[in-house]
Amino acid sequence: MAKQNKKSTGGETHQTVGNRNAYLTTNQGIRVSDNQNSLKAGARGPVALEDFVLREKIFHFDHERIPERIVHARGSAAHGFFELYESLDSITKADLFQRPGEQTPVFVRFSTVAGGAGSVDTPRDVRGFAVKFYTQQGNWDLVGNNIPVFFIQDAIKFPDLVHAVKMEADRGYPQAASAHDTFWDFVSLMPETSHMIMWAMSDRTIPRSLRMMEGFGVHTFRLVNAKGKSTFVKFHWKPKLGVQSTVWDEALKLQAADNDYHRRDLHEAIEAGQFPEWELGMQLFDQKTADSLPYDVLDATKLIPEEVVPVRIVGRMVLNRNADNFFAETEQVAYCPANVVPGIDFTNDPLLQGRLFSYLDTQKSRLGTANFHQLPINAPKCPVMNFQRDGMMQTEVFKGRANYEPNSLPVAGEEGGPRECPVTGFSSFRGRPEAEEQGDKLRIRPDSFADHYSQARMFFESQTPNEQAHIASAMVFELSKVTLAHVPPRVLANFRNVSETLAARVAKGLGLPLPPKSPSAQPVKDLGASDALSIQKNMKETLQGRCVGILIADGSDAATIDKMIKSIGKAGGQVKLVAPRLNGIVLSDKSTVKADGQLAGTPSQLFDAVAVVLSQKGTEMLLNESAAVQWVMDAYGHLKAIGATPEAQPLLEKAGVVKDDGVTDTGKAFVAAAAKRFYDTRESRLRTLA
Ligand code: HEM
Repeated sequence: MAKQNKKSTGGETHQTVGNRNAYLTTNQGIRVSDNQNSLKAGARGPVALEDFVLREKIFHFDHERIPERIVHARGSAAHGFFELYESLDSITKADLFQRPGEQTPVFVRFSTVAGGAGSVDTPRDVRGFAVKFYTQQGNWDLVGNNIPVFFIQDAIKFPDLVHAVKMEADRGYPQAASAHDTFWDFVSLMPETSHMIMWAMSDRTIPRSLRMMEGFGVHTFRLVNAKGKSTFVKFHWKPKLGVQSTVWDEALKLQAADNDYHRRDLHEAIEAGQFPEWELGMQLFDQKTADSLPYDVLDATKLIPEEVVPVRIVGRMVLNRNADNFFAETEQVAYCPANVVPGIDFTNDPLLQGRLFSYLDTQKSRLGTANFHQLPINAPKCPVMNFQRDGMMQTEVFKGRANYEPNSLPVAGEEGGPRECPVTGFSSFRGRPEAEEQGDKLRIRPDSFADHYSQARMFFESQTPNEQAHIASAMVFELSKVTLAHVPPRVLANFRNVSETLAARVAKGLGLPLPPKSPSAQPVKDLGASDALSIQKNMKETLQGRCVGILIADGSDAATIDKMIKSIGKAGGQVKLVAPRLNGIVLSDKSTVKADGQLAGTPSQLFDAVAVVLSQKGTEMLLNESAAVQWVMDAYGHLKAIGATPEAQPLLEKAGVVKDDGVTDTGKAFVAAAAKRFYDTRESRLRTLA
């Protein structure tokens, strides 16, 4: 018989005896004596079935996962508040828009759309931007995206769109990528996707940070005031840090450098007290304005240019607290566009109408019970009183006999309990006179939805030449991955309606002849350009919220590093030191520093600008280190500012760096250069853009 090994018992190997306040228990509250070993008949004998500690632990573990979201499965979230700047009482009776300075708690989840919960953060994809406002009148969810339009006009096409973009049905790939056959097959057959495709192929879908994205409610909603008057509204979130994107090669390399690039960035910014902030904007307009527009405000593939209806800034949102528990909060949060409060209402947008059904429905499947509204992250922060009862995982212990209404029994301390209120309760906008709709029951799209190309053209024409080149190149990249020979020509035939130049450039990039133009249901209009649609035309030159990587090695000049850290910090930026080894870097003054990242695992795509502070000896050593050469080469290729000591110049030369405005010394010039993130004039020298 094997000798019992006394050391292997929990009691002796772990410090669990003594004056502790906290002890492990089972879920039944039974204190656990040993959390290291299962119960066995003898040291090497069989495990006893009666070991309820083991069985309960494994049982719970076995059921830890829940279905991931059908779309937007990968997300990152944080808590914060919304603060109102001015009273909107003449426009809406919604309580959160009444009192300037008042704060409403929010929980915001950003997401990618196509990939699974474990996919990477930086594929080319639309980003979800979902805000739950816990108002005193109940929860309002503004479930938007970082793009103001959508692929389709009618919710009946949503399952088709999502099936087409997600991994293909037979092979189960690609994960989190639109560059594949089924997506482009669908796109080629659905001209209404044209406008959104322009956005999807633009730099909007490769954001630098979740903190640097705009957000949009997409649909036209209504605000309704106390007199029952309705005003149309389109919601906008404007990031304080400005909109900032990566370049495609950088986004691809970020997938390898850090799967959690955006999640980490959001978390670390909040931990560091650099709270992400957006302003809430509203485009407010009436029926007369809606009627004057050359497109339908109920069509989610259309936007209203800010130059036509200005965005009124009404408040700000600050995210100042990370979630305590990813599963309980970020995973279990359930947004639903149907969650509105009195004073906010829907329109007849057929995409919105489908969404009003879909979210609650899917959440029953994802969260497993009709009582998911009771989860702390979903529960309103105002009283919830009704006679809905029971159901799986009911957590409320309702008192009394009455579970029906009307009743004449005491409920919640009041005779008869809670009752409806026709004055303060939510009552839907009546619709008349301006929204009266009548007619035969038909499955039909209105003619006013039929122009699929004019706004796609407007978007393309609004971009800088460099942004246009990025769009064309993204299309070449994506269509080059399509193996169905008949699909790219069909896409090109559609694109000819958007822009002949764009179609010609993409055809050239693919090495294909330009096919005949596809017919357009309506003549394409030249709507002019809207500068607000361009990222580059509105780029903020700032180091706020940005990070500079400094490459150092033994012998690097301590004073230069110190000065850079101070001046970058003063400009609002953050510095991370990168070195061939993490610990014990001996600087010129013999002081030692610890780096923030080891060179091989900290490529330059993780930074907004870089500096190379090396001694002659350090440079000589790193000239033979491919990670160092690549570090500089990528920073240059990703159009970033590069500052370098004179001794480091040979490394820059080896990396192919050619001097331009973005290549500086390590002094003041660098801080100014680093505030500008893109040196796009460099790009034509570096890669062939379509
Ligand atoms: C303007 C168009 C749309 C926008 C802006 C949008 C936005 C979003 C966002 C941000 C999320 C993630 C919410 C979260 O973080 O938990 C989401 C999830 C989802 N969306 Fe949409 N969506 C749109 C269209 C649609 C349509 C048309 C449908 C269906 C008819 C739909 C069905 C869903 C479903 C089922 C989920 C998963 C919800 C969950 O499991 O909690 N979406 N959408």
